[in-house]
Amino acid sequence: MDELIPSAAPFLSSAQRIAVLTGAGISTESGIPTFRDALKGHWANFDPQKLATPQAFASDPELVSRWYDQRRCECALCRPNPGHEALAQLQEMTEADGREFTLITQNVDRLHQTAGSTEVIELHGNLWVWRCVSCGKEIEEKGPAFTQYPPKCDCGGNRRPGVVWFGEALPRVEFAAAERAARRCELFLSIGTSSVVYPAAGLIESAITAGAKVVEINPEATPLSDQVEWSIRGKSGEVLPQLMKEAFGN
Ligand code: OAD
Repeated sequence: MDELIPSAAPFLSSAQRIAVLTGAGISTESGIPTFRDALKGHWANFDPQKLATPQAFASDPELVSRWYDQRRCECALCRPNPGHEALAQLQEMTEADGREFTLITQNVDRLHQTAGSTEVIELHGNLWVWRCVSCGKEIEEKGPAFTQYPPKCDCGGNRRPGVVWFGEALPRVEFAAAERAARRCELFLSIGTSSVVYPAAGLIESAITAGAKVVEINPEATPLSDQVEWSIRGKSGEVLPQLMKEAFGN
């Protein structure tokens, strides 16, 4: 076991306000690639400018909607891993004690919710709720792959995935709630994120500035590793269950 786990664990069981930020790394053990992995990451194989911007959708809605729909269908087959499950359990235990718990994610796969986490703040939207670019109507898609790309709204408009693209603002209410939790918390966990995409990465800095203790869980160092209290190098699906066991003894 990483020697930092016994040192961080008591804070998990005693902090009155806990905030957690997750990134793509927490879902790799569920079979979903990250964005920045040099070989298997999304952005190693696809140019984000051609897929993840409003301009890309406007110029090639078929390509963009097909790519996101394929991701939706792939994610639908994936299951939460022990990292997601540990966070759902942490929420249940802290809230049962009357303590505050906020889970903020950059992920669009909804695996936290499948694992049982509630009131998850989705900073980058999700792959399931698609929106008409003409009339704004949103529909949650639970079925199989679409039969036409881009999918069409009743009004005739093109429908796009409900994810936040580069160049778009984060959802205002969600980001404000995330920022508030980062500033209020005593303990902040940064899990499976490269900490390079802002404004999400700024939440870690807000927590540090406000005086929170920060635990980072990642097999690799990040630009913020030197600034956190505990930088635990390991996979979240392994480290989080160990941390929970050390903190709560189960
Ligand atoms: P990245 O792909 O940038 O980083 C994933 C991080 O997860 C890396 O630091 C890996 O070292 C780490 N990692 C890999 N396997 C892990 C494991 N088993 N346990 C823990 N960590 C692991 O993903 P994000 O930081 O989430 O935005 O990227 C942020 C945003 O950039 C995404 O939300 C997306 C992307 O472009 C948009 O699409 C708007």
